[in-house]
Amino acid sequence: MTIQWFPGHMAAAKRKIAETLAHVDVVVEIVDARAPQASRNPMLAELAAARQRPRLVVLNKADLAEARSTRAWLAHFARQGGFSAIAMTAKETGEVKRLILAAQQLAPHRHDPTKPLRLMLTGIPNVGKSTLINALLKRRAAKVANEPAVTRQVTRYDPSPRLVLFDTPGLLWPKIEAAETGLRLAALGSIGENAYFVEDVAEFLGRFMLRQHACRLAKRYGVSVENFDTPALLFAIAKRRGCWRNGEADLEKAARILLDDFRHGALGRVSLETPPAVVVGSEVRKGMARDL
Ligand code: G4P
Repeated sequence: MTIQWFPGHMAAAKRKIAETLAHVDVVVEIVDARAPQASRNPMLAELAAARQRPRLVVLNKADLAEARSTRAWLAHFARQGGFSAIAMTAKETGEVKRLILAAQQLAPHRHDPTKPLRLMLTGIPNVGKSTLINALLKRRAAKVANEPAVTRQVTRYDPSPRLVLFDTPGLLWPKIEAAETGLRLAALGSIGENAYFVEDVAEFLGRFMLRQHACRLAKRYGVSVENFDTPALLFAIAKRRGCWRNGEADLEKAARILLDDFRHGALGRVSLETPPAVVVGSEVRKGMARDL
């Protein structure tokens, strides 16, 4: 499945972001900790690099990702260099302080009333950018929604004399080349539903969950998943949850239940991606501790 998603307002948003970059000290790139690579936008890295702005990658929704996997991703990004990375849960009060501290380290000359620290907050839709901004503002100013691309303009906020925030539209890049990337982003809810078939994405997620976390599926839906493939799983969910249409199992509804449960953490902490393996001497070490 190749997902193409680049409405006109996104092209305009890209231009606006490029202009605003001239006035910021640190670019904060928010990604989803459950798929930190898929949810990075290559366009943002390009834009920030062109302006030589320091970057801080924030692995948000860390509460929904597997802790070991998040640690492995942070180590991977540290090895990569070129930007800093932290993990956090924007929904938890107090967590945003760490973001400010990390950003300050990247622009130590800023953070007083004459030279406020100017942050640009970027990220693909649904990674929690509005939640994070509201936490930084200590009020509900940015719109929070589990639906992609709500913000369309670059909005400036001055939460204190020492801090300026630029909120940017949730940007996706023109064409997502790798099918896996598209499926992960769709599973995370970062792509609008009109760009994919819900059942295709649930099929992908179901396959992954059956392989990695079969027990959790069994527990959540009260079914035995032994020897299940994804169609069998969706059928079982439809049956257990009473999803019927014209006398037949409503697999689309079952697919939505599975996706919603994953997105909101009802299936526990799940990480969809593992960092690439590391070569140490002649030894190949996998990215995740549990694979070692
Ligand atoms: P966006 O601006 O990047 O598009 O994302 P937004 O803040 O609107 O957040 C999208 C959804 O992700 C919201 O869920 C929000 O609450 C949730 N979210 C944001 N940060 C975190 C986090 O660190 N952990 C968890 N678990 N969830 C997070 P929603 O269901 O639309 O809203 P709500 O009912 O939770 O408020």
